[in-house]
Amino acid sequence: MDKIAIEGGIPLKGEIAIAGAKNAALKLMVASLLSESPVTLENMPAVADVEALRGVLENLGVAVADEVESRRVMTLHAASIASTTAPYDLVRKMRASVLVLGPLLARCREATVSLPGGCAIGARPVDIHILGLEALGAEIGLEDGHLHGRAPDGLSGADITLPRISVGATEHLMMAAALARGATTLRNAAREPEIADLAACLNAMGAEIDGAGADTIRIRGVERLDGATHGVLPDRIETGTYAMAAAATDGEIEMTGASAAHLAETLEALEAAGVEISDTNRGVTARRANGRLAAVDIETRPYPGFATDLQAQFMAVMATAEGQSHIQETIFENRFMHVPELLRMGADIRVHGGSAIVNGVERLLGAPVMATDLRASVCLVLAGLAARGETVVNRVYHLDRGYERLVDKLAACGARIERRTA
Ligand code: UD1
Repeated sequence: MDKIAIEGGIPLKGEIAIAGAKNAALKLMVASLLSESPVTLENMPAVADVEALRGVLENLGVAVADEVESRRVMTLHAASIASTTAPYDLVRKMRASVLVLGPLLARCREATVSLPGGCAIGARPVDIHILGLEALGAEIGLEDGHLHGRAPDGLSGADITLPRISVGATEHLMMAAALARGATTLRNAAREPEIADLAACLNAMGAEIDGAGADTIRIRGVERLDGATHGVLPDRIETGTYAMAAAATDGEIEMTGASAAHLAETLEALEAAGVEISDTNRGVTARRANGRLAAVDIETRPYPGFATDLQAQFMAVMATAEGQSHIQETIFENRFMHVPELLRMGADIRVHGGSAIVNGVERLLGAPVMATDLRASVCLVLAGLAARGETVVNRVYHLDRGYERLVDKLAACGARIERRTA
C-alpha cells in the first residue's frame, strides 16, 4: 500500500489550482440518470471517488466518456437504463452511491441499492433518505443489506420536513422530486453551495427548482429532463485545506479558482488565529502573519457554519497555536480519529465525547501515522508539513478519494513530500 513521506518544517509558498468540488461532482454525475440525453460536466476533479461512482453508473448502463487529454470534462449518457441494481461490491466504496436510488425510482419505478460504505465516521444512517422517498410515494424495504424500492405508479410530489439537516438527503430528494408528479416542498433542507450547484444543473436540464441554497426548496415536477452542460463549482474543502497548510507551515499560498464566499466562517476562524486572508482576482490567498498563531474555538455546523470536513485540518493548525482551543464536532460522532495520531506527533489534545480540547505545543514531531478517513488523513499530512523530522502517512488511498494530485500540489509550493509505492 502506498505511503506519503514528508520532511516537515518548510514554509509553503506558491499557488495551487483548486479542483472542482468532489461533493458536487458526485451528485451531478448521479443526476445524469434522470435524462435520456447526455449531461456534460466540466471542471471535474480527478479523484478516486469519481472513478468509483463512474463504476456504479456504468453498471447501470450509463455511457461515460472523459476527454482523453485531461479528465476535466466528463459526459454521461443514460440513454437507457440497463440494470436497476447497484451491487455491494461497487457501492461499498462510496457512500454517495445510495443517491442513485431516487433517480432510478423516478425513471424506472424500481431500484435495488446495497447499503453504502464510505468513511468510517460514525453510524451514518440513511433513514432520512428513505423517509423522504416514502413521502414521495415509494415503497422501500431492506433485505440482505440491500434497499429495494418500488414506485409502481411513479413518484408524486409531497411536503417533506427533514427531521435533521442532511446534505445527501436534500440532494437525493431534490433529484427524485424533479421527475415526480406535482409539486414538492423540502423544508429544513441543507444549504451547502453544492446543493445550489446541483439545482442549477437540474434547472439547465429543464427541472423547475426554486430556493436551493436556502432552507426551503420548492420543486415542480416535470415529465422529462434534457441534457445540459454544467461546470462544477470549486472545491471549498480543498481550498480550506490548503489555506490551513499555509497557516500550519508559516507560509503563503494562493488558491486559484477558489471562492472565499463559500468558506466565510472557516476563513474567519483562520483570521482570528492570525492568518491573513485576501480575496485576489484569481482566488484566495492565505498568509500566516508574523508570530505564533492564537488558539481559536470552533464548532462544526451545517452550512454556512464551520464545515465538519475541515475540522480535522483545523485541529492540525491548532495543535501548535498559542493557548487552548475548544473544538466541538456536532455533525458526526466518532470524527476525532486523527487525535491519537496527532498525540503520537507530540500534540496535547483531550477528547470528551464530541469535544476536543487542544493545548497548543511549540512544535510537532514527525512520526509514522495512519488514519481511517479522508479528512483525518489530510490532517496528518498538514501536521507532518508543520512537524520537525519525517512523517510517513499510511493508507494513502483515503487521500486519493478526495484530493486531486495532493503530493504534486504541495511539492509545487516547496514541500518536501513524496509518494512511496510499497
Ligand atoms: C455530505 C458530504 C460529507 C460531509 C457531510 C456534512 C458528500 C459526498 N459528502 O455527506 O463530506 O461531511 O455532507 O457536511 O457530499 N444522517 C442521518 N440519517 C440520514 C442521513 C444523515 O442520521 O438519512 C446524519 C448523518 O449520520 C450525520 C448528519 O446526519 O450525522 C449529516 O449527514 P449528511 O449531511 O447527510 O452527510 P452526507 O450527505 O452523508
